[in-house]
Amino acid sequence: MAVTDDLRRRMHHEHRTLRVLQEDLLDRFESFCEERSSERHRDFVGVFEDFRASLQRHFEFEEEGGYMQQVLDRRPHHKTKVDMLQREHREIRVVLDRLESELATDLTEDLPRCDDFKKDFVDLMTRFGRHEQAERELVMEVFWLEGGVSD
Ligand SMILES: [Fe+2]
Ligand SMILES: [Fe+2]
Repeated sequence: MAVTDDLRRRMHHEHRTLRVLQEDLLDRFESFCEERSSERHRDFVGVFEDFRASLQRHFEFEEEGGYMQQVLDRRPHHKTKVDMLQREHREIRVVLDRLESELATDLTEDLPRCDDFKKDFVDLMTRFGRHEQAERELVMEVFWLEGGVSD
């Protein structure tokens, strides 16, 4: 199988897995917002940790063995886009770390902080969704539309 087939399949699979995890995370976050109990907080934190670890692995794959280098090798003029996507990885990691520290404290009693967390969390999910969409478009353009399929 061509390297690019493996790459596209793995990207597609990982993006799908992350979307499922993200939906689960949003559901649990909503449950926690409805009832700010310690139990729901624990549930949410558990899925958040899974999501964060999966995302770290996914970013590492994309940066080290994944599409970034292959896009640059094939289409060097896309460097600005690749740099931007890599910068977004760093920014998303920073926000994830900050939210994780927030979650390590008790959000159940502090309504204003909980609302701030909610806003930051929804912003992060929106940003992450846009990031993945930009990646899908770049990979599709370079490996499908530009005739890279039969590498
Ligand atoms: Fe990415
Ligand atoms: Fe990705």
